[in-house]
Amino acid sequence: MKLVAKTFYGLEQVLANELKELGAKSIEPGNRVVEFSGDKELLYRSNLWLRTAISVLVPVHSFHFKDEDDFKRKLSEINFNKFMNVKRTFAVKGAVHSKQFSYTKYPMLLLKDSIVDFFNDKYGDRPTVDQKAPNVLFDLHISENNCTVSLNSSGAPLFQRGYRKSTGDAPLNEAVAAGLIYLSEWDKKSNFIDVFCGSGTLPIEAALMANGIPPQIARKYYSFMYWPDFDQMLWEQIYKSAPAMPKRELNFKIIGSDSDPDIILKARNNIKALPLGKTISFECRDFKDFNPPEGDGTLISNPPYGERMDDQDILDLYKEIGDFFKNNLPGYACWVLSSNFDAFKRIELKPSKKIQIYNGSLSCDFRKYDIFRGSLVEHKYGVKKS
Ligand SMILES: C[S@@+](CC[C@H](N)C(=O)[O-])C[C@H]1O[C@@H](n2cnc3c(N)ncnc32)[C@H](O)[C@@H]1O
Repeated sequence: MKLVAKTFYGLEQVLANELKELGAKSIEPGNRVVEFSGDKELLYRSNLWLRTAISVLVPVHSFHFKDEDDFKRKLSEINFNKFMNVKRTFAVKGAVHSKQFSYTKYPMLLLKDSIVDFFNDKYGDRPTVDQKAPNVLFDLHISENNCTVSLNSSGAPLFQRGYRKSTGDAPLNEAVAAGLIYLSEWDKKSNFIDVFCGSGTLPIEAALMANGIPPQIARKYYSFMYWPDFDQMLWEQIYKSAPAMPKRELNFKIIGSDSDPDIILKARNNIKALPLGKTISFECRDFKDFNPPEGDGTLISNPPYGERMDDQDILDLYKEIGDFFKNNLPGYACWVLSSNFDAFKRIELKPSKKIQIYNGSLSCDFRKYDIFRGSLVEHKYGVKKS
């Protein structure tokens, strides 16, 4: 069957790679989506294993419509019994880009009405709409006069992993964090550090990857569990065969640190629900006092962007970040995510890569700084400068 995984801008290729690993076929990355094909088993495994997806959709009905009346008529032809029974709660979400509908929520209301009318006409009973936590979630996608109704198999977005109990003011989305780690090409064999870790999203996602544990290990519910064709045995088999224990020992360190003691408590609290054992640790310290573990590694951090800080303070902070990289992290690949382009300049190192990423609605750059041991000449030619 045809399946569609949704993701964030800039992570389409990363998600396509994840799908390839899972054995998906006919993988086609698009704009914030990746289309692929697979069976029910792949659908369940995608929900459990995809680290950079927001949701996995199953398109169930596509049609072309002429106008609003035609749209309503075509919705009324859908047999909603195939997707839910009247006792299930449901909701409709989606995206509408069409001159036919100036109010984009309107066609979603029409689909909702169509579902209610279908059950009312057939059974004299109406299913309840639950916007917050519906059992069955429909996705409506309209591009001009083309409409696709899909079932959202995930329900709540997949970045709601079930482990994060509390956060700071500006937590990174879990799926974006996982995407950044993939984009950094961290080898999962050397140290991983984040010296502005906040509630710990980046180190936690890194530790899940390094231990080969599915990102959704702590999550209990998906929308597909409420579908009439839910195969509980198949799901249990998939879930139980996923690793749920940390590897006994990692011969490198995964460390998050932050200067705020309250946020470090939150980060420590967040890993309680996860089987990560001693493979991750959190330290409370200013980044300038961070003592890197022995060996090479990757640093990924999203320092404050400046929303809550004075302009000059933020520029000084990024200058200190550049100095910290140069003086303390030889042998590291240091990656910084920020939307503050003036502050980036104060790092005073030449980035070897720049990738555009959205963190929520903020357009950010994800920049890589290679910190060589010794001079660049020594690194390039293996000789010492005389
Ligand atoms: C944008 S938040 C990071 C959010 C984090 N990635 C998460 O997912 O929760 C920036 C963090 O930098 C921390 N911070 C600010 N100044 C710092 C400093 N000088 N040293 C270490 N951490 C600092 C703040 O306490 C805050 O938690």
